[in-house]
Parts: sequence; structure tokens; C-alpha cells
Amino acid sequence: MAGGIGSRFWPMSTPKLPKQFHDILGTGKTLIQQTFHRISKIIPIENIYIITNEEYVNLTLEQLPEISKSQVIGEPKMMNTSACNIYMAEKIYNLNPDSCIIVAPSDHLILNEDEFSREVLIAFKKAEKQDILVTLGITPHRPDTGYGYIEFSENEKSTEAYKVKSFKEKPDLETAKSFLKSKNFLWNSGIFIWSSKSILNSSQLLLPEMYEKFQSIKTSYNTPNENIKIREVYNQIEKVSIDYGILEKSSNVWVIPSSFGWNDLGTWNALYENLSKDNEGNAIYGKNIHAYNSSNNILKTTQIDKTIIIDGLKDYIVVDTDDALLVCPRESDQEIKNYLKKIRTID
Ligand code: GDD
Ligand code: MG
Repeated sequence: MAGGIGSRFWPMSTPKLPKQFHDILGTGKTLIQQTFHRISKIIPIENIYIITNEEYVNLTLEQLPEISKSQVIGEPKMMNTSACNIYMAEKIYNLNPDSCIIVAPSDHLILNEDEFSREVLIAFKKAEKQDILVTLGITPHRPDTGYGYIEFSENEKSTEAYKVKSFKEKPDLETAKSFLKSKNFLWNSGIFIWSSKSILNSSQLLLPEMYEKFQSIKTSYNTPNENIKIREVYNQIEKVSIDYGILEKSSNVWVIPSSFGWNDLGTWNALYENLSKDNEGNAIYGKNIHAYNSSNNILKTTQIDKTIIIDGLKDYIVVDTDDALLVCPRESDQEIKNYLKKIRTID
């Protein structure tokens, strides 16, 4: 899935060049390239599909020269992750009704790729046999309100997977704090493993209108009419994530607690954890950024030679690009998305 615009990561991530197409960590590979290489260790390259906005199809092909045009599916508009999952599951089911799918966000960091592959293969074994939805869960270490929280049942366990008791997408801070205390919760990594049949069954049950819309056009798939029909469907469906639309409401979800060094790099704080810092805890990106009496900040400019002086700043994000300047307390990083919504509405 590579169709998000990463708005909590503004102003680095913009609708023109979203986060997944950036080399955020300075590794020489963009996040989508890292994701592709990680997945290609498990799945033959010709079976990997990227679903993204039609605006990013060429960019995707440029960044992933290994794949063919037919493997990049362009969506006419951003309708969140239920739509893209149902659409892809339909397409894959039509190719092979016994297929199993790993759904991967395109913008995560995974440090231990061998462990990741091992756990995914366990998940596949489980998902191919049963009508279930499997997610990989991460032990939480802060009350982050940007994630889904999974309550698992200690009593119902098979191989390395636990039955999910409840799933709460993006709780408020108080609820997130109580989940963190209780120890029976994991973060949803947003990496899912299911058979195409199972996710279609769940969609039919929980998002019946959307499911029927996609069903009604399935004979157009792989014909010259597909784009027109998909555009019609995308104009009629609900904008809802797979987490709110399906996972929260399903009773057949299983979770595999995972330890492959995951970070969703979804917000400035998530990135801060992975950046190198000076003795005062400042992560500084820019040759001429000078920080005095300042600690635990992210200080970044894309104009590498620009001189910036900071004095007396603690726990802030300061990001300067050609188009924008952000100055925001680190604790408010989830708000960036809302600020942008307001500005763009006024525009
Ligand atoms: N094709 C497509 N179309 N992709 C999309 C769309 C869309 O409309 N919207 C988002 N995506 C992609 C994003 O690019 C990203 O790779 C992935 O889908 C997940 O979307 P996010 O917008 O990043 O979701 P999130 O971070 O708020 O929440 C999800 O991930 C968390 C972990 O990172 C949820 O699954 C949470 O439960 C989870 O904890
Ligand atoms: Mg995300």
C-alpha cells in the first residue's frame, strides 16, 4: 500500500512527494524501495503489486525498475485502505482463488529482516488454512495515539499466534495509557496476512456496500474498461481505513507478537527514536544549524547550507523546507495532520 500522503510528516512529506518516496533515514534507499526489497525475499517479484494513487504510478516505476507496469495499480483518488484492500483482494482472487496475501504498508522501518521473514511465513501457514485475518503485533513502549491497539487472549494460542480479543484503532491518550499499563496489548503493525477469500468474506460481512460495488465491476478487471469502472466505484464508496472498517469489528483476528525491530516512521517522534543525536538529545540535520541551551529537538533544513540559530528550545520539531517552516512541540506531532486539514479547507 503506497497511496498515503504521510501528512503527519509534513513538511518533508507532501502530496507531491509523500513519505514513502523519501530516503528519510539517509540509507540510500527510499522507504518504498526498502519495503519492496524486504518483501521480495519472501514473495516472487512477479507476484508483488503496489497500489497507489494514479499520480504516483510513474514515480513508483522509477523507484522500482524491477517491476512491470501491470504490477503498479493506480487509484483514481485516495479513499483510504479498505478500498485498496478490497480492490487488490478481488484482483488477486481472480488470478488465483487459493491465494494468500501479505499486505504491507510502504513506509516502515524493519531492522531484523530475517526474523520478519520467519514470522510472515508462520502467518502464511496459519492464514492459508483458515478463514481468519492475521496481523503482526508489536510490544508498545509509549502511549502513542497514532496506532491500533490489539488486546490478545493468553488462553487461546496456536503456534506463535494469539486470538485477538479486541482491536481499538487510534485510542485517545488516556485509553492508550491504560492499554500500555495493562500489558495485554500490542500495537498493530499494519502488516496483515490473509487469504484473498478471507478478506473478501470479511468485507462482504462488514463493509457490504463497498464489497458489492467492487463485485459489480469485476468482469471489467484486466480489460480496457477497468479504469472507467474503478473511477465510478471510487466516487461512490466510503472513505474508511481497513482498521476501522474491518479489523475493529472482526471476531476472527489473530496476532503474532513480533520482535523484528519495527518502527512505522509515521510521525516526527517515531523518526526521532531512530535518528542519531548530540549530547543534548538534539537530532540536527543541516551543516549550519547551531543549537544553544536547547535539548531533545529535531532540527532539520533541506537547504543544507542555510544558517539557523536556535536558543532555549526544548522538545520541539523545527523543519525548514523550500516551501514551508514547521515549529511545533514534539508532543503535538499528531496534530500536524489536523492543522493541514484546516489550512487546506480554508484554501
Ligand atoms: N493505496 C493506498 N490508498 N494506500 C494508502 C491509502 C490509500 O487511500 N491510504 C493510506 N495508504 C497507505 C499508506 O501509504 C501506508 O503505507 C499504509 O497505507 C497505512 O496508512 P497510514 O495512513 O500510514 O495508516 P496509519 O499509520 O495511520 O495507521 C495504520 O498503521 C499503523 C502502524 O503503522 C493502522 O493499520 C494502525 O492500526 C497501525 O497501528
Ligand atoms: Mg502509517
